[in-house]
Amino acid sequence: MNERISPPAAAIQGSHCTPEQYEALYRQSVEQPDAFWAEQAKRLDWFKAPTEIANWSFDPVDIRWYEDGVLNLCHNCVDRHLPERGDQVALLWEGDEPGVTRSLTYRQLHAEVVRMANVLKTQGVKKGDRVTLYLPMILEAAVAMLACARIGAVHSVVFGGFSPEALRGRIEDCRSRIVVTADGGMRGGKVVPLKANVDAALDGGPEVDAVLVIRHCRNDVAMMEGRDRWYDEVAADASDDCPCEPMNAEDPLFILYTSGSTGKPKGVLHTTGGYAVWTALTFHYVFDYRPGEMFWCTADVGWVTGHSYVVYGPLANGATSLMFEGVPNYPDCSRFWDMVERHKVNIFYTAPTAIRALAREGEAPVKKHDRSSIRILGTVGEPINPQAWLWYWRVVGDERCPIVDTWWQTETGGIMITTLPGAHDMKPGSAGKPFFGIVPELLDAEGKARGGAAEGNLCMATSWPGQMRTVYGDHERFVQTYFSAYRGHYFSGDGCRRDDDGYYWITGRVDDVINVSGHRMGTAEVESALVSHKLVAESAVVGYPHDIKGQGIYCYVTLIAGEEPSDALETELRQHVRKEIGPIATPDLIHFTPALPKTRSGKIMRRILRKIAENEYGSLGDTSTLADPGLVDSLIEGRRNR
Ligand code: WTA
Repeated sequence: MNERISPPAAAIQGSHCTPEQYEALYRQSVEQPDAFWAEQAKRLDWFKAPTEIANWSFDPVDIRWYEDGVLNLCHNCVDRHLPERGDQVALLWEGDEPGVTRSLTYRQLHAEVVRMANVLKTQGVKKGDRVTLYLPMILEAAVAMLACARIGAVHSVVFGGFSPEALRGRIEDCRSRIVVTADGGMRGGKVVPLKANVDAALDGGPEVDAVLVIRHCRNDVAMMEGRDRWYDEVAADASDDCPCEPMNAEDPLFILYTSGSTGKPKGVLHTTGGYAVWTALTFHYVFDYRPGEMFWCTADVGWVTGHSYVVYGPLANGATSLMFEGVPNYPDCSRFWDMVERHKVNIFYTAPTAIRALAREGEAPVKKHDRSSIRILGTVGEPINPQAWLWYWRVVGDERCPIVDTWWQTETGGIMITTLPGAHDMKPGSAGKPFFGIVPELLDAEGKARGGAAEGNLCMATSWPGQMRTVYGDHERFVQTYFSAYRGHYFSGDGCRRDDDGYYWITGRVDDVINVSGHRMGTAEVESALVSHKLVAESAVVGYPHDIKGQGIYCYVTLIAGEEPSDALETELRQHVRKEIGPIATPDLIHFTPALPKTRSGKIMRRILRKIAENEYGSLGDTSTLADPGLVDSLIEGRRNR
């Protein structure tokens, strides 16, 4: 499908970027990057303006932006707005129950951030220290991130849906001595026992100095003497003065763990100056944000989308950002549109999986709410199929609202490929064009760039300010993961096609990462969770097409000798993976098999397993190198039976 839809004139009147402006700015951004990025840095307040702009190399790998600049991102997101918009709402929050709201003006946000920053200081947190945040989607999550940024501490936000095991690994990896959590979080009417999870994560595990607990659900929790403190009690004595720490542009801002094709999740490290410029700039152009508008990104702050487009991007622009604790189908599946109506949301940014799930419920839940406030719609996290795109366009947006399909990654810090509302026609299913400063390339297996209309592995020829700088504690892994497939190029892990008009169509991951409901998952992580069960001998996990989730988790499992598969064991293995990683990693299908297909040298043939899981038996390719070619037939047989 190659349908072209022009943005409706009314929605983009006065937009920040016309087609001509895009062409001119894009050209400047790639032809004179230093001049372009020096100019863009002026979007921020610097304690010392940078004179060094771009200083990077992909071979050897060393990436620096604005390296002699000094700034503080919290100052840019909060303090600098006080004179002009101190009484404007910075963050509006709605809880799990409809209509339960709280808000913070920029002035109130300032007071809360200062308080939290001082509390962290009293707990001994200093510049450069890592602070783990394991919180629900409440205002305090944003406050805690900003408080860390204010004092130069490095936050590591762990999504509240991760299990104690997963949390423990992340606390250990960055050796954080302090955890900020809440008694619990609410999702769909149920309490998520966050504090109890922290207790389990720390039990016999990493030693920390303090656990600060925010009172939210008022569920029962155990408090460990000497380690655990109620945040409100410590905060009561906190001073209301805390200057912003001057940070070098290349000082670390945060670590965020993300899944890769091998091994444990990686601690993606972002630094201060480049990330700040990148998120501020992309937010301004991609969402065409106008002062006074209500911006709603439905992502959790536990993911990069929440970092960049719930907190830093919007606040750096002085926007009003809506935070939502609940889920799209509670109390019913009109929740999003009910909130759009009540809060007069102007820009709405969500994931394709949510769109597909809501589309399944039909038009009525959408149509019964007034959505006339919406001007721009956005999607992120996974490829959006044209059918879901068109539903979003027709039903949610009434064919009035441009849709931005934004491709980017935890590693990229912010949006990389997208249309801009006022500058481009849209093509359902295509992310669109490179953002300013982005030079995508499609490389073939030999590393040759394919020009014009072509397909290949999506790489970047040049750096951009929001690029991750390293894997925390393991720079070699950073180099290996992103710069070794194609020396001198950043490799995204995605496959992609470019059409005759220069539009990019992401075709999905080409590595062993799968994308389940917009959440990135390493198949190796699920495999290691499965084999940690005492009855499992071996496992291979692949993705397969799933109507709602985009991809589902398909697990091939072999049991230790003498054990027989059963429904009970299947349920137990599902539970086991949930416990090890978290509910988002729950296997969709478990396929017991006496053996896995291997080459004679013992390598699992994942390509074949993927095809079988996808129900594509006609294209299995060469199976002659298999140690036991007959196994394939029995695997197909097993697949057909589910
Ligand atoms: C996928 C989320 C197609 C892609 C911001 C990428 C997308 C991975 C899109 C990163 C999109 C993200 N179209 N695919 N618009 N956006 N992806 O790190 O495979 O959680 O590599 O960052 O999601 O996921 P991550």
